[in-house]
Amino acid sequence: MKRFFGRVAIVTGGGGGIGSAICQRLAEEGADVVVTDMNALAAQEVAHKIVTNDGAAYMIEADLSDSRSCADLISTVISRSGRVDILANNAGINRRGNLLALSEDDWHASFAVNLNSMFYLCRAVIPHMIAAGGGAIVNTASQWGLYPAPNHIAYNVTKAAVASFTQNLARDYASHKIRVNAVCPGEIHTPMLEAGVIGAGKTIADLAGLVPFGRLGKPEEVAALVAFLASDEARFMCGSLVEITGAQAVA
Ligand SMILES: NC(=O)c1ccc[n+]([C@@H]2O[C@H](COP(=O)([O-])OP(=O)(O)OC[C@H]3O[C@@H](n4cnc5c(N)ncnc54)[C@H](O)[C@@H]3O)[C@@H](O)[C@H]2O)c1
Repeated sequence: MKRFFGRVAIVTGGGGGIGSAICQRLAEEGADVVVTDMNALAAQEVAHKIVTNDGAAYMIEADLSDSRSCADLISTVISRSGRVDILANNAGINRRGNLLALSEDDWHASFAVNLNSMFYLCRAVIPHMIAAGGGAIVNTASQWGLYPAPNHIAYNVTKAAVASFTQNLARDYASHKIRVNAVCPGEIHTPMLEAGVIGAGKTIADLAGLVPFGRLGKPEEVAALVAFLASDEARFMCGSLVEITGAQAVA
């Protein structure tokens, strides 16, 4: 079933763990995928792999913490592909620390990447979606935005803001048939998680032991949820914050 045949999808952080899985899943289901990341090499590899497997994709390098870069990204995609049907706002960073340990730079960087990028990109893309008669936006929040884990105040607060941002956009643009939803993953095995595990002096096995399923989540499992929310099968979902955690409670 090609749920996204003829549709154009932008995936931010498309070179990363969850982002690359989202790109591949959307492409397998027929989407023309724009893989965007500040890590051009990683994004190029993802786009190349999709094209090699007979999918459609291209890469755009962008630092999405910058408003000009976000506006340029959307206008480049509009001139190259003519439309944007799906925006998966997935790029993110995780700076560890409680209030006193965290630097001001980490606080500002967290907001710039995790939240402001969504504000800039949605401001640029929503007028095109309105003109086209609708669209789907799927934001990557986090379980920690709903139930804060210790020692990650910047990450948790920005992800809580992503959850609220999602609900606000959903309310404001549902009448234009723009569906805005968020995924809230728990522990998913990606480069970001591996860096966090090392930073906390723990192992992957320690973390897996906290999940009732006895394992970490896979990027492909989050990608399947993002694809569902982006698809017409989720046509009555708008403003939902969907947890995908293997039943783990935040410790
Ligand atoms: N891995 C987890 O356990 C987990 C859990 C909950 C939520 N998340 C969220 O999922 C998303 C993806 O995380 P991941 O685990 O795949 O991490 P990752 O580090 O593998 O991927 C993140 C990607 O975002 C890109 N990026 C960072 N800053 C950027 C910027 N300024 N401009 C453009 N691209 C930028 C990075 O280059 C990277 O490719 C993030 O929003 C993260 O917060 C992850």
